[in-house]
Amino acid sequence: MKYKIPFSKVVTERKELEYVQDVLNSGWLTTGNVAKQFEKDFSKFIGSKYSLTVNSCTSALHLALNAISTKKGDKVIVPSLTFAASAEVITYLQAEPIFVDIDYDTCLITPEIIQKAIDEHGDIKAVIVVHFGGHAAMMTSDNKKGILDICKENNITVIEDAAHAFPSKLNDVYVGNFGKITCFSFYANKTITTGEGGMIVSDDEKLIEKIRIMRLHGLDKDPWKRHTGEGIKWKYDVILQGFKYNMPDINAAIGLAQLERAEKMRLERQRCAEYYTNELSRIDCIDIPKLKVNFSDHSWYLFTIVVNDKSNTLRDDLMNLLETDGISASLHYRPLHRMTYYKDTYNLDAQDFPNTEKYYHGCLSLPIYPSLKNEELEYIVKSIKKHCVKK
Ligand SMILES: Cc1ncc(COP(=O)(O)O)c(C=O)c1O
Repeated sequence: MKYKIPFSKVVTERKELEYVQDVLNSGWLTTGNVAKQFEKDFSKFIGSKYSLTVNSCTSALHLALNAISTKKGDKVIVPSLTFAASAEVITYLQAEPIFVDIDYDTCLITPEIIQKAIDEHGDIKAVIVVHFGGHAAMMTSDNKKGILDICKENNITVIEDAAHAFPSKLNDVYVGNFGKITCFSFYANKTITTGEGGMIVSDDEKLIEKIRIMRLHGLDKDPWKRHTGEGIKWKYDVILQGFKYNMPDINAAIGLAQLERAEKMRLERQRCAEYYTNELSRIDCIDIPKLKVNFSDHSWYLFTIVVNDKSNTLRDDLMNLLETDGISASLHYRPLHRMTYYKDTYNLDAQDFPNTEKYYHGCLSLPIYPSLKNEELEYIVKSIKKHCVKK
C-alpha cells in the first residue's frame, strides 16, 4: 500500500495555538470578547449584518426554528438527503418534518420540489434548505422563480442549513445573505472548525436579539455583560425560554484563526475538486456532480461521485477496494427516509424519493481537504479507475 489517505484531515497552524494561548492567559475562558470578535469577522467576511456564535449547527437550527415561533403540528420541509440534525430540530418542537426528494444532478432541493410539497401538504411554516456538499441551492434565479420567490408567495420562512456551505456563493453573494436565518457548522471535519461550534446569521435585528437571549438560558444579561458592565453584578432576569448553546472563547479563538485562512483553504479544496472533475468526468460508469454555480463559488466541502448502473463494480465493493488500497471514502448520506426512526414515525416510503434513492444507491464521497497532495489525488484516481469496471 503506497499511501494511507484518511477521508478528512483538520489543518491547524500556529495562529490557532497563539489565539488559544491568549484566551488561556486572559483568564476568561467562556463566551466573551473573542466570541464577539469571531462574530464580527464572520459577518464582515460574508457581508451579513449580524452573526451569533453557538456551540453547534444543530443548536443554531433549533434556535432558528424557535425564534420564528415554530409550534406543535407546524409543517417544515426538509430534504431526506441530509444529516439527522436538519430534521431532528423540527421534532424538538413537535413540529412535523415534510421530507422531500432532491434534484439528482445537484443533490439539492429546488423551487419545483418545494412547490410540489406545498401542493401536497398545504400550509407550510418553514423550509430548511440544505446547501448539500457546499453547492448553494437556487435561492434566486435570473430566468425563473427561485426558492425565495416560491417561499415568499406562500408565506414560508426560509432557514438555511449551511453546515457545508462556508464559504459558498450564489451569483457572487455569499450563502448567509438569502434566507431569514442561516446556520453554519464548525464541527471538526467542516471547512473551518472550532472543534465543535456553529454560527447563526441573519439581517433581522429583532430575531437576532431574541436568539442572543435564548442561546444562554434566556438571560437578559449574559455573564460577560455582567462581568464588564457597571452597576449590580448579580442581578439578572430570565425573560425568554433559554438553552445552553453558547460558544466558549477557547473555541472562538480557533475559529478566528481558521477564518483568516478560509479562502486559502477553499482554494486548496478546489484544487482537489478540479483534479477529480478532470480525471473522473471521462469515466462512463461514474457520475460526478453537475454544477449550477461557478466552480469557484463552491465551498467544496464534499466531492461526491455516483457509481452508476453501467458499472460492474457495486458502490460498497468499490469502497472496500479503495480501503484495501489505503483510501478512506465516506458516504453522504444514508437518506433519512431509510433511517428507522424517521421511516417508522412518519411512515416514509423509499418510492417517494426516486432521485435520492438513485443517488444513494451509488454514492460515495472522496477525500478532499487542503493538505491532500497532488500525488495522493493521482493515487486515488488511479485506484478508482482500476476498480471501477464497466459492464
Ligand atoms: C447538513 C448538516 N446539517 C447540520 C449538521 C450539524 O452540525 P453540528 O455538528 O455543528 O451540529 C451537520 C453536521 O455534519 C450537517 O452535515
